[in-house]
Amino acid sequence: YVIGVDLGTSAVKVLLMNNQGEVCLEVSKEYPLIQEKSGYSEQDPNEWVEKTTAALTELVEQFDGDVSSIEGISFSGQMHGLVLLDEDQNVLRNAILWNDTRTTEQCQQIYDMVGEERLLEITKNPALEGFTLPKLLWVKQYEPDVLANASVFMLPKDYLRLKMTGATHMEYSDAAGTLMLDVGEKQWSDELLALVGIDAKLCPPLVGSSEFVGHVTVEFSGETGLASTTKVFAGGADNACGAIGSGILSEGKTLCSIGTSGVVLSYEERNDRDFQGKVHYFNHGEENAFYTMGVTLAAGYSLSWFRDTFAKDEQFETLLEGLNNVPIGANGLLFTPYLVGERTPHADSVIRASFIGMDASHKRIDFARSVIEGITFSLNESIEIFRESGKTIDTIISIGGGAKNETWLQIQADVFNAKIVKLSSEQGPAVGAAMLAAYGSGWYDSLQECADVFIQEATTYTPVPENVERYNELFQLYKEVYAQTKVLNE
Ligand code: XUL
Repeated sequence: YVIGVDLGTSAVKVLLMNNQGEVCLEVSKEYPLIQEKSGYSEQDPNEWVEKTTAALTELVEQFDGDVSSIEGISFSGQMHGLVLLDEDQNVLRNAILWNDTRTTEQCQQIYDMVGEERLLEITKNPALEGFTLPKLLWVKQYEPDVLANASVFMLPKDYLRLKMTGATHMEYSDAAGTLMLDVGEKQWSDELLALVGIDAKLCPPLVGSSEFVGHVTVEFSGETGLASTTKVFAGGADNACGAIGSGILSEGKTLCSIGTSGVVLSYEERNDRDFQGKVHYFNHGEENAFYTMGVTLAAGYSLSWFRDTFAKDEQFETLLEGLNNVPIGANGLLFTPYLVGERTPHADSVIRASFIGMDASHKRIDFARSVIEGITFSLNESIEIFRESGKTIDTIISIGGGAKNETWLQIQADVFNAKIVKLSSEQGPAVGAAMLAAYGSGWYDSLQECADVFIQEATTYTPVPENVERYNELFQLYKEVYAQTKVLNE
């Protein structure tokens, strides 16, 4: 057996999987966000440790086999969150999370200190509020005493793993989202750190995602009931683990994952492609591989906002009843999903959403269809960037909210002009984490071999040429709305 721990933003989920790739047990525990001011989003790192300990304890209690047969454990983690520790490994302040947007000023400082071109060359990514370096610079500017006492910075799941093993590490796929890593060379960038005035000693040693980093401590074993022989493997960023858990492990494989936010993510074997920072370019959880990713901030969130605002108490199934009977283009309604700003392709935290073309005859289901089409158009802008760079995207694995509705799956096929594959079961990043533990434990010779056992494809949706053409016309209009509505929010 192996355990995958998914340390998310709202909850931690732990999964026990066997060597047939079956999920045997699952426990999850929630924790709150701390939002003291508008734009602030924090969590107490020790709460992650407490809730994960409780979840693992419950999982071990429910397990009726021999605990020493649980060979390995690994992690998927919410990305970018800044955890600062003193020399005794005590937490110095709450973690500042990926969805905290207080750091616009620090992003500009980074461009001023490093230069946009050099930043892109080294980190392959632009300076965005969510990334870790701007958070570190915010602490330096506004809480200098905290930074002065810091001996190391960590990311969320790395702190959790430290508390389980006593060993301090960070792994490449998460380090890629700090904006301090030379992504292509897989090492901390001394040049960049010097330019922004951050002491390189704060950066922990780097390891690969499936690398063995130690056993659980005797203390942690005592608390949870896990055997002290359980091996701990480094783990990966949630998006990297989501990719692993969906089999995105070779060139040409692409994932569309719709949760609160939506991502389109594509495997990338090379370290020297130039996307000019238009999409994120991060290290994968597979050794020496990469992935590129575009993000729509309000994907599933647009639909849940619509439901909560106009159809409170309805289930999504009822809300979307008759979706298939509304023609392509939602009877002339067009929606842009910028409810909380946008990341790809606009990196604009100020832009806001729109409904255009409302007619007195429109019904709620027309609006629902336009919301779904608008979310899909936004994700298609990321796919367009991939294709413009020369990538072939003909098959996309779809997971999350977008894979729960057949009509939406067909809309994805028609808007993306690609075959859409639904998996037979999906547990997201936690499966990717369990796969890192299975591969790390030596069950398979590669992550791909592990994926062949752990992941099954179920249904395929094929693009219909005339729908593709119609959506392509609408997509051209959709893309014009951004510039036309931008002025409203300036
Ligand atoms: C990726 C990002 C989010 C977080 C969510 O850049 O900010 O997907 O990883 O945990």
